[in-house]
Amino acid sequence: LRTSLKLHTSLHTSAGTNVVAAREERARKDVTDEKDGHKSLYALQAERQGQAERSVLISYHSRINEKKFLKYLSKHGDINKYYFYESYGIYAVVEFGSREGVASLLEEAAIPSVNHEAMVPFKSRLLSLRNLCSADSPNQQSGPQCQPQTTVPINQLIQTLSKEGSIDQQVTSLTEAYQLTEENSRLRFLVCSLLKDIAAAYFPECTVRPFGSSVNGFGKLGCDLDMILDLDGISGRKTKMPRSGLSLEYQLKRANSERSATQSILSVIGECVDQFGPGCVGVQKILNARCPLLRFAHQPSGFQCDLTANNRVAIKSTELLYLYGELDPRVRHLVFTVRCWARTHGITSSIPGAWISNFSLTVMVLFFLQRRSPPIIPTLDHLKDLAGPADKSVIEGNDCTFVSDFSKIQLESNTETLEQLLHEFFEFYATFPFSKMSINIRKGKEQNKPEVAPLHIQNPFEISLNVSKNVNATQLERFVALCQESSWLLQQSETSTPRGYKEGSTPTTWGLATLLLPSQVAGIKGRKKRRLEPASVRIKGLLESLKNNQNPPKKS
Ligand code: GTP
Ligand code: MG
Repeated sequence: LRTSLKLHTSLHTSAGTNVVAAREERARKDVTDEKDGHKSLYALQAERQGQAERSVLISYHSRINEKKFLKYLSKHGDINKYYFYESYGIYAVVEFGSREGVASLLEEAAIPSVNHEAMVPFKSRLLSLRNLCSADSPNQQSGPQCQPQTTVPINQLIQTLSKEGSIDQQVTSLTEAYQLTEENSRLRFLVCSLLKDIAAAYFPECTVRPFGSSVNGFGKLGCDLDMILDLDGISGRKTKMPRSGLSLEYQLKRANSERSATQSILSVIGECVDQFGPGCVGVQKILNARCPLLRFAHQPSGFQCDLTANNRVAIKSTELLYLYGELDPRVRHLVFTVRCWARTHGITSSIPGAWISNFSLTVMVLFFLQRRSPPIIPTLDHLKDLAGPADKSVIEGNDCTFVSDFSKIQLESNTETLEQLLHEFFEFYATFPFSKMSINIRKGKEQNKPEVAPLHIQNPFEISLNVSKNVNATQLERFVALCQESSWLLQQSETSTPRGYKEGSTPTTWGLATLLLPSQVAGIKGRKKRRLEPASVRIKGLLESLKNNQNPPKKS
């Protein structure tokens, strides 16, 4: 048996251990400080960051014997957790009990010798393992169990949902099928931590943290990984200029604005990731965007990554969305369902364009939930009124203050079911006065539109901005037409009555599953013509297609 661990090499740094220890200590404290069973986003992130920093990512090239694999790695230290997944090949994520385990493993690993390539001396925590199989292993044929990292195909989801006994169960089941798993969440933090090792070549005390749907509670398996290169923790950065004494020279060199400093930082990090980042491919520098970023694929995890810097407002939006999602379980259920519905019908897209974004759609769901009677979630202004002195946050002149302590928030007792809410959501936006009014979660009430745009959704923190500025009239019309159709479908007994699934038979599509079938109204071609048909004709055709149900929907 010849076993070897090989390093994916690049530039080496090992700074930041003390920062990590302090952060982990704080996390342990915060987790025990949990209020009402809600873990704060800060505590959750710190805990995951700690785990990520003690973890390695190992790809292997031959069948693996799980027992031997563990025995082999345990020589280097206690293992807290491990799991396997398939991306471009099979990978294992292994979390050691301490960073010494990682250090010992890296110490032993061989540096590969490749004929026509030169090595960059950087010991990354991405390794490959060869020849650790055994002929007499009973597990050898099946191999280790892999954790899913992508969502089930839409056809399969439709079948699963059709087996459920109520629309409420369907909505819950969709959320369960789509939401990030614990393993996927850990992998996201691990990729941030690997990126941090690279960025630390320039900024040893930096942190790379995820934001957006990877951590706000609304991420589905397969969503992109949004990251921030956080330089705020660098010691002394916030120190005021003393009247006398030392001040640093390096900070403002050649940068005449924060934006240009961010651009230069991302530019050099982009170069570094491109040249020395193991597994990072297709690095694009998108530095002229409103929020400059690096975009690349991290092949071993399969994540599409966006790395930004100096993006504090996005961290605040992430915290806000997380808070709303934690306040009432119906928030996440409805957001997952509406996002899935929108994606299936091409209302949202992974390609940037005139489409409604997932972020806009989430804000629309939040606004709808604020407009219920009684409201399911409070307005942002109310959350601001509840804030304590420690919650105060002003970023580039924008007031981003809101309460962080969940226990201060009193909810009203709204008992609407998910089925009612889903139906009402479609009804609400099927008839919303988009031409005159703006959606505003700060006030929890529609406001007169301040500017001409087909869809106006006030940016919660940068209030002069419209988060859906990119959306054109056609896309808004499609959204409204689909809301009308879905609302109508949910009123029909053919759609809304459970079909009594029998074990072993093919389930008949019903309820939410019906709403995920291809639409009769929202196709771009013939859209105008179809809309002129009387509703009864459209709906008759729709019911026919549902009865036959032979037309598998396109994969979104
Ligand atoms: P996915 O589609 O699952 O990636 O959802 P997402 O919420 O991660 O959206 P996206 O990757 O487009 O953006 C990441 C985060 O950036 C969002 O969660 C928001 O916090 C923020 N963001 C995106 N678009 C806007 C915008 O137009 N305005 C503001 N203020 N923040 C935005
Ligand atoms: Mg995202």
